[in-house]
Amino acid sequence: MRVAIAGTGAFGRNHLRVYRELEQAGLGVALVAAVEPDSARAADTAAKYAIPVFSSVDELLSADLHLNAASVAVPTVHHHEVASALLDAGLDLLVEKPLAATLVEANDLVERSEKSKRILQPGHLERFNPAVLAVQPQLRRPMFFEAHRLSIFTPRSLDVDVVLDLMIHDLDIVLTFAKSPVREVRAVGLPILSPKVDIANVRVEFESGCVANFTASRVSTERVRKLRFFEPRQYVSIDYARRDVLVIRLDGQSGGGLPPEIAAALASGKADPVLLAQLAAAGLDGPAPGLSFGKPEVAPGEPLRLEIESFLGAVRTRREPHVTARQGRDALALALEIQSSMAAHAHRAGLLDFFEPGA
Ligand SMILES: NC(=O)c1ccc[n+]([C@@H]2O[C@H](COP(=O)([O-])OP(=O)(O)OC[C@H]3O[C@@H](n4cnc5c(N)ncnc54)[C@H](O)[C@@H]3O)[C@@H](O)[C@H]2O)c1
Repeated sequence: MRVAIAGTGAFGRNHLRVYRELEQAGLGVALVAAVEPDSARAADTAAKYAIPVFSSVDELLSADLHLNAASVAVPTVHHHEVASALLDAGLDLLVEKPLAATLVEANDLVERSEKSKRILQPGHLERFNPAVLAVQPQLRRPMFFEAHRLSIFTPRSLDVDVVLDLMIHDLDIVLTFAKSPVREVRAVGLPILSPKVDIANVRVEFESGCVANFTASRVSTERVRKLRFFEPRQYVSIDYARRDVLVIRLDGQSGGGLPPEIAAALASGKADPVLLAQLAAAGLDGPAPGLSFGKPEVAPGEPLRLEIESFLGAVRTRREPHVTARQGRDALALALEIQSSMAAHAHRAGLLDFFEPGA
């Protein structure tokens, strides 16, 4: 299978590395070319990977390289222009998240891929995080999510706000876990160091009654990647960065030796995770009747490699990818609804002076 990569910046470089690793492992894939308009980056990539690097997608397609598939890792605002040209040329695509910058563009990509029967997999990497894969079989009926994704500021991905840059990962995961249409969105977001929203807090309520709180920041003093959720009689905590999962379950009919308020909080599915961690630290994980602390086995593996292997599997078998184009579009639709809600809040709160026009 002959693949190319469009965009060899901060993240495209990871795609280059993984495809080359798979090629060297003899897994039936060859990294044949790249597209990179920045001449210094193009020269670096050509030298490091010994492949031709073209300055535009048109040049790549004129080179007659018999390509089967490509990764698109250009800035989000260029996803549609690059992905539509590659889809029309008959390539299967892995397009970095978010699928596109607008819903019109995302719908157009979904339509083009469906009409031409091309694979279009959006790069929602966290779906392949081994911690997420370990949790999926444990899912019961999640009713309350708390997502935190905080990063230290770097001047990258500033073509989009923090919702499209970071929060989109958690939006996709929660949409997948909650399995219900969105009923209501309430959001606040502020630009801090860039002209676009750098920190956002969002409450989403689903038709099922499930509620999700999302916080995303790219101006934090620490890096956090956590998703916690509560189900009746079960609490699950995922640390995406440490690829670690903790499941606390109330197995018996009563809380046994636990103080009644803790047993009641557990039974209602609203127990404070800090309190639960304290219980674990106090050694109440094993002996406390009715309460079990579990750490599901998390398989080893780099999410990007698992994502690319899964994409190549879909290309080979022509099966629907693990993350579908429609799911990428749905995550984007929620992100855009959040942006509208943030704009309405900024208007109500008289914060419009904080925002640059058009940001
Ligand atoms: N999955 C993840 O966790 C993750 C992490 C970071 C970035 N991303 C996504 O990857 C994409 C790229 O982000 P980045 O941080 O690497 O950005 P970047 O700016 O570092 O790199 C983008 C590269 O694309 C090149 N480029 C611009 N227009 C192009 C075009 N028309 N054709 C080919 N190349 C073009 C630029 O010259 C640049 O080298 C974004 O969509 C971003 O959201 C995903």
